[in-house]
Amino acid sequence: MSTNSIDSLLHETRRFPPTAEFSANAIAQAGLYEAAKADRVGFWAEQARQLLHWHKPFTETLDWSGAPVARWFADGEINVAYNCLDRHVLAGNGDRVAIHWEGEPGDSRSISYAELTAEVKRAANAMAALGVGKGDRVAVYLPVIPEAVVAMLAIARLGAVHSVVFGGYSSESLRSRIDDASAKLVITADGGWRKGKVFPLKAAVDGALANGTSSVEHVLVVRRGENEVEWTAGRDLWWHDELEKAGAEHEAQGFEAENPLFILYTSGTTGKPKGILHTSGGYLTQVAFTHKNVFDLHPETDVYWCTADVGWITGHSYVVYGPLANGATQLMYEGTPDTPHPGRWWELIEKYKVSILYTAPTAIRSFMKLGRAIPDRFDLTSLRLLGSVGEPINPEAWIWYRDAIGGGSTPIVDTWWQTETGAIMISALPGLTTLKPGSAQVPIPGVKIDILGEDGTRVDPPQGGLLVVSEPWPSMLRGIWGDPERFRETYWSRFSKADDWRYFAGDGAHVDADGDIVLLGRVDDVMNVSGHRLSTQEIESALVSHPIVAEAAVVGAADETTGQAVVAFVILRSDQEAAQTVDEASTMLRAHVTGQIGAIARPRQVFVVAELPKTRSGKIMRRLLQDVAEGRELGDTTTLTDATVMQIITDKLK
Ligand code: WTA
Repeated sequence: MSTNSIDSLLHETRRFPPTAEFSANAIAQAGLYEAAKADRVGFWAEQARQLLHWHKPFTETLDWSGAPVARWFADGEINVAYNCLDRHVLAGNGDRVAIHWEGEPGDSRSISYAELTAEVKRAANAMAALGVGKGDRVAVYLPVIPEAVVAMLAIARLGAVHSVVFGGYSSESLRSRIDDASAKLVITADGGWRKGKVFPLKAAVDGALANGTSSVEHVLVVRRGENEVEWTAGRDLWWHDELEKAGAEHEAQGFEAENPLFILYTSGTTGKPKGILHTSGGYLTQVAFTHKNVFDLHPETDVYWCTADVGWITGHSYVVYGPLANGATQLMYEGTPDTPHPGRWWELIEKYKVSILYTAPTAIRSFMKLGRAIPDRFDLTSLRLLGSVGEPINPEAWIWYRDAIGGGSTPIVDTWWQTETGAIMISALPGLTTLKPGSAQVPIPGVKIDILGEDGTRVDPPQGGLLVVSEPWPSMLRGIWGDPERFRETYWSRFSKADDWRYFAGDGAHVDADGDIVLLGRVDDVMNVSGHRLSTQEIESALVSHPIVAEAAVVGAADETTGQAVVAFVILRSDQEAAQTVDEASTMLRAHVTGQIGAIARPRQVFVVAELPKTRSGKIMRRLLQDVAEGRELGDTTTLTDATVMQIITDKLK
């Protein structure tokens, strides 16, 4: 792993206990750990009852008889949207701001819980009129605008299933996700703002549907970019027209707790993204619990800001469901951190008096590079808690975050979790835990984590091993959409024995002498670029789909800012070698990957090589390519068929 080297951890020995004042006012008190330890399953039942409204109370908490597919609170009924909206209004908090939204060009809206509820009711009626009902899949392809939240909640309100696709994904990626889930409806916008320009979204939807994808009946289009769009009469409808026509009243019905809530696609080790399936009651319980306790949320006074795009799991759990279930006031920002100036984020924190900030290490490292002078120009004293997610946060970035952004006094919670886990699994609790930079520290109450060696036995500190979750948890994935075999194979086959199920996360970790968990990065062919998960194989498939490419190998090379960067090695088809210069080929292929997957997957570098290093059994030795890409001395080459290959590659790259 690149950013969290043991060396840098050893150099940072400072520890940060909570202040007496923070502890005294903290939401999470020590009793939580004891309660969860005494009766883990009962603890979650208690949280589900306390944090949520049940249309029909559950009597059974966990049914693990169908392992590895869990059923939590299965005989209960719940409406996820009602929990995020109506009940706050009914409790007298309708005037509280749910979302302060700021568009990139500087336009803004503040939306109260009452207004958001009214809007979601209309949207639910509009979608119902288009035939959307329980169990139907709806694809959402939107910028970070309030309508994204409205759309997700309206779908949830109907008991339908959303599949949000990040707006930066290409038409191709959108198409495969729409097809995989057989979506009935697509919700998109004409365009969104990014880096001072409007990027088109509707055009990508048109492209995705061009092959005549039969499952999609309608496309609802939000007007945001005011850009020109093509229109397919009968299929395409304006969001504002449909909402205006729709009725204002909509009563939320209870659905069984295991009713699917959403599918979210994420990269795995093979080329095909996995549709991670989450359901309702257990998911909402754990996101609400963690949002409240990890972020110490005081909904009456806090202004919370999670900078994630709604297209990622962090946006689902900690922009939409966690904060709204807890009645929080939050900030949502459409654009990029450096538009129109590099202090935009800090300006927003000052403007809205943000008190809790949740972001990714890659963002912190880019701000670090720009220097302290930029945040120093703004009043950030409203901040009282900082969070980090997406990749290990190196101690240097941790300390900078606390000093430059947190005024040298705010606690930082480093939260480890995944699309699959649905909610935070490992994190400090800020009023209780003495913080240690570089370590995500301890499992949250009610979650059981172990670090195992290759042979499946627990490793003793300070040895490293593989991270597993040893007991089912409420927000765990319930499967991979349409592929139960891959679900078992990917997560459950490695360490489970007989009835002893262990979820294998794909991350390396070690436990230090104090019992704190230090994450060391992925142990599989999944890369982490700017906190986004990318599969080496998916990018390789995109590269070889180009006619000039004969073979491709992709590695994640350490990168100071983005954690890892995509570096590709390609062999051109023999008839193509003369036709392109190396530079032309490289430019063309970088653009091709952008078109196939999206700009997030665009390789930092594409190297044209004559051969790739392979073992005698024909496997590409990515480890060696990684050495080259990171400019290191070559590792062991003795198992190569032809050791001179590496010499040739290295010489060429020099
Ligand atoms: C990595 C994002 C270290 C990890 C919520 C995991 C982290 C993958 C941390 C999931 C952290 C996430 N420390 N590594 N605090 N948080 N990761 O599905 O490798 O986009 O497996 O979920 O990100 O990425 P995903």
